[in-house]
Amino acid sequence: MTLIDGKATAAEIRAELKTRSSAFEEKYGRKIGLAVVLIGEDPASKVYVRNKIKGCEEAGIRSFAHYLPENTSQTQAEELVATLAEDENVHGILVQLPLPKHLEAERILAKIPAAKDVDGFCAENIGKLALRESGTVACTPLGVMELLKRYHIPTAGKNAVVVGRSNIVGRPMALLLLNADATVTICHSRTRDLKAECLRADILVAAIGKPKFITEDMVKDGAVVIDVGMDRDENGKLCGDVDFEKVSGKASYITPVPGGIGPMTIAMLLSNTCEAAERSMEKKNQ
Ligand code: GUN
Repeated sequence: MTLIDGKATAAEIRAELKTRSSAFEEKYGRKIGLAVVLIGEDPASKVYVRNKIKGCEEAGIRSFAHYLPENTSQTQAEELVATLAEDENVHGILVQLPLPKHLEAERILAKIPAAKDVDGFCAENIGKLALRESGTVACTPLGVMELLKRYHIPTAGKNAVVVGRSNIVGRPMALLLLNADATVTICHSRTRDLKAECLRADILVAAIGKPKFITEDMVKDGAVVIDVGMDRDENGKLCGDVDFEKVSGKASYITPVPGGIGPMTIAMLLSNTCEAAERSMEKKNQ
């Protein structure tokens, strides 16, 4: 069994991005900039946002953090995003989800132009992914693909099973695997025989959001197991959607939680930001 080290790979990527952001600064006389918007007090979101801002520093990217109170109005949130959309120093905009319940996320996210949508959430970017056109791809599934690539794990002709169908992970993950020539199955809460579906997987991606949901009887010998979960076990300890202790005995490759996909998500956000900045300048200079 090989442990896929997302933490080390993400550090390598941040170092590569530092070279890229320095080259940008030298060429265009300004830094690459990412705006991060956090509304409210969600504790997990606060940790994610802190890590994203720290990642920016390490990759030589300027971050613009906007912390808004829980009682922010729909208009205030939309106006902030609209202002960032016009700001030339901001190449990427990230609105951390989930938002407080009284806010309509879709209408706020709709203010982010596709060119600055570094999360790859908007209809234009999802459409491009579905059509195999170049656009921005959601960070978590992109991080999974980057790990498969860097660990030389082939996807063509493999049975890939994605458990979870969220807009942020499951759907774009399935499209990326399909674009990489895997035979893809998407499973969800209404799937009839989940265990049988999972047992067919050469590559199993768990994006369910339930602690240790994938057990060893659901995994084929020698499968590649990718754990996208960020859950808490019965003792409050951070764990994934996969029962790592038991499943690691069966897998050929497996990602741990923490230290697997989490750091890669942030590295891909920084990479998407560099790409958005480079594209915007190339467009301007055409
Ligand atoms: N909340 C959980 N994951 C994400 C993500 O990738 N991007 C944003 N903006 N919010 C999230």
